[in-house]
Amino acid sequence: RNVTVLGVPMDLGADRRGVDMGPSAIRCAGLERRLEALGYQVADEGDLLVRRAKPQPAAPETNLKYLYEIVRVNQELCERVSGVAASGRFPLVIGGDHSIAIGTLAGVSRHYGSLGVIWYDTHGDVNTAETSPSGNIHGMPLAVALGCGHPLLTSIGSGKAAILPENVVIVGARSIDPGEKLFLKERGIRVFTMQEIDRLGMAAVMEQALAIAAKDTDGVHLSVDLDALDPSFAPGVGTPVAGGISFRESRLAMELLSEADVVVSAEFVEVNPTLDVRNSTAKVAVELISSLFGERIY
Ligand code: ARG
Ligand code: MN
Ligand code: MN
Ligand code: MN
Repeated sequence: RNVTVLGVPMDLGADRRGVDMGPSAIRCAGLERRLEALGYQVADEGDLLVRRAKPQPAAPETNLKYLYEIVRVNQELCERVSGVAASGRFPLVIGGDHSIAIGTLAGVSRHYGSLGVIWYDTHGDVNTAETSPSGNIHGMPLAVALGCGHPLLTSIGSGKAAILPENVVIVGARSIDPGEKLFLKERGIRVFTMQEIDRLGMAAVMEQALAIAAKDTDGVHLSVDLDALDPSFAPGVGTPVAGGISFRESRLAMELLSEADVVVSAEFVEVNPTLDVRNSTAKVAVELISSLFGERIY
């Protein structure tokens, strides 16, 4: 029952500035206090250093924006997360934009022969330089973890893919780029869209998602992009898309994950305080983290 919090004030993977303040906002919303109230020993190791880059063109020969600093930070994050996992503590990474999942997954996967992933997101985040409409690396981390993308990104960590497609599920999808559809279909990755959440209900979706992510794996990594929630519940995100998951459904999802007791690491990303309303998105993140760590209403 030991948790280590790592903040990554990264906003270079996204077009809208300000998501670098996400870790502060999540801390201000009471993260440590809430986890301690649940009986955890919490070590907040503070934030990694992310160098403020002045607007710069995409890296030469690619359309990837801010590639080099994103690589550098993710290499460091990989080592830090790996150290936390090695010490038997639960790595809880708070962002920051979703590009930081590259480092988290590289670090966690070192300690598991086979790692499942639940990607709770509006987006697939499986673009590569060839398919990306934006050049933003926060639209690419799941592809990188599967071994696809710029070599500087895929070589972070062991250099081999952190995860396998059969152990990955996406929950909450409603904005997948054409190239991403091909990528996901080719690999047979299970995508639970909003339609399935509406038709089956969140409980059934999470049951199926867990059956895939936990099947023959040694643990499950949970990656929560706050834009999976409907913007009415999580307005403080850079790429909001209408028609999203409700707060109630999200809390239920976290409670079911907590009961399943298979999650070995987690990240909560894309909270952008400059777009938020009275820190409500950071507060939602803390509520969901609390449910994931076992808080119950009654
Ligand atoms: N698919 C779009 C892109 O590649 C949006 C990605 C948004 N990703 C995120 N982590 N919010 O640019
Ligand atoms: Mn304390
Ligand atoms: Mn997203
Ligand atoms: Mn995302």
